[in-house]
Amino acid sequence: MKRTRAADCPVSVAPMMAWTDRHCRYFLRLISRHVRLYTEMVTSAALLHGDRERLLRYHPAEQPLAIQLGGSEPAQLARCAGYAEQAGFAEVNLNVGCPSDRVQSGRFGACLMLEPERVADCVAAMRAAVSIPVTVKTRIGVDEQDSYEALYRFVAMLAGAGLEALVVHARKAWLQGLSPKQNREIPPLRYDRVYRLKKDFPALTVHINGGIKTLDEVAGHLQQVDGVMIGREAYHNPWLLADVDRRFAGDVYAQPGRHQVALRFMDYAEDELKAGTHLQQMTRHILGLFQGQPGARAWRRHLSEQAHRPGAGTEVIEQALRYVT
Ligand SMILES: Cc1cc2nc3c(=O)[nH]c(=O)nc-3n(C[C@H](O)[C@H](O)[C@H](O)COP(=O)(O)O)c2cc1C
Repeated sequence: MKRTRAADCPVSVAPMMAWTDRHCRYFLRLISRHVRLYTEMVTSAALLHGDRERLLRYHPAEQPLAIQLGGSEPAQLARCAGYAEQAGFAEVNLNVGCPSDRVQSGRFGACLMLEPERVADCVAAMRAAVSIPVTVKTRIGVDEQDSYEALYRFVAMLAGAGLEALVVHARKAWLQGLSPKQNREIPPLRYDRVYRLKKDFPALTVHINGGIKTLDEVAGHLQQVDGVMIGREAYHNPWLLADVDRRFAGDVYAQPGRHQVALRFMDYAEDELKAGTHLQQMTRHILGLFQGQPGARAWRRHLSEQAHRPGAGTEVIEQALRYVT
């Protein structure tokens, strides 16, 4: 089976629950044609027993698009990977990095770092089921298991199972005592560990994640690893992505400006409103579009105050645009 490369553009936007839904992803795609996008985590149980069509839904323009799965049963994950491939996703990523209680009680997410054999079985089963790349997103450690040697053993096991690419959030996770939010802030970033992994596993595609806020930082990391994943900054300051195509995908074209992006998003929102989506479900993701520009606060305020009103339509976006010059 022919496999495509895990990522052609080395920059991606992280999977973020409740944030990177399909509306958000469509919006980000208007800013960058090439940045790789990830869905929010979808659990294998939801995909097997829930509203599969809804969970796998995306707009073709979102591609290249990866789906992130949460789960720990190889056979179930293999079936889910198959559904994802049929639905046209470009990559299947397994979440081995999320420390939330809800995720731990399902015995997946970051606690799986304590069970490398199981993760390797999951990777092998998914790989056998699909021809799209199978990747894992993980941390540098969990609880007391935070030495480089333990991380090395974990990654060696995954590489042995045929893993094609690894995304590493460069901080450990504490499974107890810290909230998911604290676990994204308190444990210190150790980029050096991720760089060392790339040196020790040169054939493995390694992406680094955590605390990255500028494209200059991205360029710096790319001296050491194959890819960079940006989470919160891409959400709060999405215009950060506007230079990704030119700088990292070698694609120079007449890019739309912020206003044009907003107007294009209005066309999308118009169609979605007809299909029954509420305006606020979409506009909540575009609040950061004018971050740092004159009028940004008024833009945000207008959208926040008006978009949730019953019957609100795309005129709300048009009105908000008048605040930003
Ligand atoms: C609101 C929110 C939701 C998140 N949900 C997920 C998730 O579903 N799966 C996952 O692997 N990581 C999730 N993360 C973690 C991010 O993918 C990323 O690893 C983390 O935010 C560190 O990157 P950053 O410093 O660039 O934000 C989430 C982060 C945030 C802020």
